[in-house]
Amino acid sequence: MTVEHIELAPAITVPKDWFASQVVYQVYPRSFADSNGDGVGDLRGILSKLDYLQRLGVDVVWLSPIYTSPQDDNGYDISDYRNVDPIFGTLADLQELTDGLHARGMKLVMDLVVNHTSDEHPWFIESRSSKDNPKRDWYWWRQPRRGAEPNNWGSAFSGPAWEFDQATGEYYLHLFSKKQPDLNWENPEVRAAVYEMMNWWLDRGVDGFRMDVINFISKDTSLPDGPVADGKLFGDGGPHFLSGPRIHEFLHEMNLEVFAGRDNPLLTVGEMPGVTVEDAVLFTDPARAEVDMVFQFEHVALDQEDGDKWRPKKLQLTDLKKSLGRWQEGLAETGWNSLYWGNHDQARAVSRFGDDSPQYRELSAKMLAGVLHLHRGTPYVYQGEELGMTNMSFGAISDYRDIEVLNHHREATTHLGHTDAEVLAALAPLNRDNARTPVQWEASLHGGFTTGSPWIAVNPNSSHINAAAQIDDPDSVFSFYRKVIALRHAEPVVSHGNFTMLLPDDANVYAFTRSIPGSTLLVLGNFSGAQQHVTLDEDWTGAELILGNYPSDPSLRLRPWELKVFRAVD
Ligand code: GLC
Repeated sequence: MTVEHIELAPAITVPKDWFASQVVYQVYPRSFADSNGDGVGDLRGILSKLDYLQRLGVDVVWLSPIYTSPQDDNGYDISDYRNVDPIFGTLADLQELTDGLHARGMKLVMDLVVNHTSDEHPWFIESRSSKDNPKRDWYWWRQPRRGAEPNNWGSAFSGPAWEFDQATGEYYLHLFSKKQPDLNWENPEVRAAVYEMMNWWLDRGVDGFRMDVINFISKDTSLPDGPVADGKLFGDGGPHFLSGPRIHEFLHEMNLEVFAGRDNPLLTVGEMPGVTVEDAVLFTDPARAEVDMVFQFEHVALDQEDGDKWRPKKLQLTDLKKSLGRWQEGLAETGWNSLYWGNHDQARAVSRFGDDSPQYRELSAKMLAGVLHLHRGTPYVYQGEELGMTNMSFGAISDYRDIEVLNHHREATTHLGHTDAEVLAALAPLNRDNARTPVQWEASLHGGFTTGSPWIAVNPNSSHINAAAQIDDPDSVFSFYRKVIALRHAEPVVSHGNFTMLLPDDANVYAFTRSIPGSTLLVLGNFSGAQQHVTLDEDWTGAELILGNYPSDPSLRLRPWELKVFRAVD
């Protein structure tokens, strides 16, 4: 948005919960669409797909990081917050993207990665240059403890969370890779620099931020050791930095310094691993002015032993309903939920929560869309989910690209005594590269993603799972997403209705109602490949079936992976 644009815009007052009727689409640029044949997706690639996004009907695009970056963690390691990495394009391309989205009535939300920078960011280069550099205190530098790391914390990407710096004889903290040093938010100069950068982006017309691991920014400054779980090499620092002592203060300050006083509708969502419902109420209470909504992680940890993604286990539907139901209830009065099955850090939704076999892939992808989008909250669609894209079957470790996978494989085979085959089998279901294979646009070579050699393999099922085959097919997964998204736009009961979970103990059927005065919907989703007969306390005979993924049948019988949405008739 240009300055003239802002001045000409009518002074509209937007209700704070305008995002209740919106749907967000996440673009992971490296894997979306490649315009120049270098094998990496880019901004001009995204520009070429704006009509596609408009057709889908989404309101907001969240763009994963496109900033200048050494790409150690695919752009979540930023070395210049105010520029675009040449692999993705230029600032001018980004402006064109912003304008192109606005022209189509869509908004652009940028990723804000400020728990850490790249070690190649000028701030860190200065900070590490000497102990008395003015920016020394912008990061977490500590003396060795007994000649080793200052505490026992492990990094999220294996190994210790500390890296020794030869030049000054101290360690710096990195909760992620050693190329992602943590910023010290205790220092007011750091906070001011971040807010200034955020304002700079908003002044250029972006419409909000998805805030990367934002509940990690306030740490217990004494940095105590964390508990060491069985079979682990390092301590878990989580208790000392997850939603730490000053987190609410920092987010409120950010709100005042960046968002307050801007009258165009901005969307803020905090990514918050480990966040509890009770904390989320505080984070998203509009009266407290922190963020609009958070990404919570409970429902994506239910298929893991002790929340360890490398020890997958079967998901129990009753656990999923219990968890999502608690979040619905907890944020019913105050605050707001975000709704997601997947993103660039999670396995593909249909492979994880549905059934990606040829027989049930489409049915279960549609059922999942209906169940998620009809909850109360703002739904997020991760690129390719709207096509029913599946997990990838990778072969050797050399097929993977994700630093998290590669580091884990190295640590598990060299220090924990696991065999290559064991590690590969354990990481297959939930590794992040499942979601990072390129979007499948067409049946042609590399799924139409690139004319070159893709940075990561395209899923061979692109020969039949692709956008070209779906956009004009009224029965496709894509068309089903269009319907579900349109339903949120059209129906106040979807955007604003109360949520009531039904049948919490049923192991196969997900059932709930949404209601506002004068309108009630019943949503039934069969999470199994077997037929189910639903019995409800209330009489739903005669209700109107308004959405489903099978040929219409108004009974309460559910065929394999069937979704039925009824509207009560008075
Ligand atoms: C977030 C991002 C993830 C990244 C990490 C470190 O969880 O979503 O992709 O690796 O933060 O920035």
